[in-house]
Amino acid sequence: MSSFKSLLSQHAATVEKALAAALANDRLEGENTRPARLLEAMRYSALAGGKRLRPFLLIECAGLFGVKSAQSVQAAAALECIHCYSLVHDDLPAMDDDDLRRGKPTTHRAFDEAMAILAGDALLTLSFDMIASEAIHPDGSVRADLVQLYAKAAGLGGMVGGQVLDLAAEGKSLDEAAITTLQAMKTGALIRCACEAGAIIGNAKPDERVALRAFGFAIGQAFQLADDILDITSNAETMGKQTAKDGGRGKGTLVELHGVEATRQRAQELLGQAVGNLSVFGDRAETLANAAEFMVNRDH
Ligand code: IPE
Ligand code: IPE
Ligand code: MG
Ligand code: MG
Ligand code: MG
Repeated sequence: MSSFKSLLSQHAATVEKALAAALANDRLEGENTRPARLLEAMRYSALAGGKRLRPFLLIECAGLFGVKSAQSVQAAAALECIHCYSLVHDDLPAMDDDDLRRGKPTTHRAFDEAMAILAGDALLTLSFDMIASEAIHPDGSVRADLVQLYAKAAGLGGMVGGQVLDLAAEGKSLDEAAITTLQAMKTGALIRCACEAGAIIGNAKPDERVALRAFGFAIGQAFQLADDILDITSNAETMGKQTAKDGGRGKGTLVELHGVEATRQRAQELLGQAVGNLSVFGDRAETLANAAEFMVNRDH
């Protein structure tokens, strides 16, 4: 596990550099100016913080097929832009109304609501600019595949759709199937996308791509269960975000439905399923198995 953690921080640093470069002052060809305040809010939201788990999964899934992190980091950073945007909007007063994120005031607190909305919008569109760029992959059809994968994961039938279901569920008692669907969308979609993007960049065979998608599906589900458990068992200092919030807002979680212990068991089952899907890769997938273990049994 300690070698996993050092690899996690190594990849995080590489991704941070790619994000900082994408958010540099200089405008790119095709852009007019980069308004300073907007750029500041985007940097505030995307740099210096976060576990960078989705980029890690993408880089390591691509690595299964011999792709070096120098080649996959751009796609990883682009996916992290979508994740960061999702957090900025998730924290808005109209959504979860949170004041703390990654140990700092949320973007709408540090700036204002309009700037948080617009910084989120601009991070989302920047992500697509990044994955459409030639640096991602020399083959245009691979880039088009990635654009479609990211769009589906982020949008209507993915993360945004899941956020809508999440808000609609507040105060209602959902059954397990409905909770599973909303979590597979709001959180699972981007995690599955990370794994599948690695397969696309690595030119994986169809069965390998299916295995990584199934791995991402199971670990995405378990990851949100861990988040819901930590909301009850951890604290703001460790998590860098407010805890003990979901119960009060009547969020649709398995913890609300079945309690912490049963949710822990379910998370462990999903971890087993996730790791089971890696068997086609043999020993090469050990790092991914460690990542899965960390995602479920983490303390922050
Ligand atoms: C938080 O995701 C939002 C959820 C989907 C639970 P992370 O726990 O990956 O947040 P960061 O990126 O490390 O801050
Ligand atoms: C987050 O779910 C899902 C997103 C798409 C951001 P939560 O609302 O539980 O995430 P936290 O607990 O605020 O990080
Ligand atoms: Mg939320
Ligand atoms: Mg939230
Ligand atoms: Mg949460």
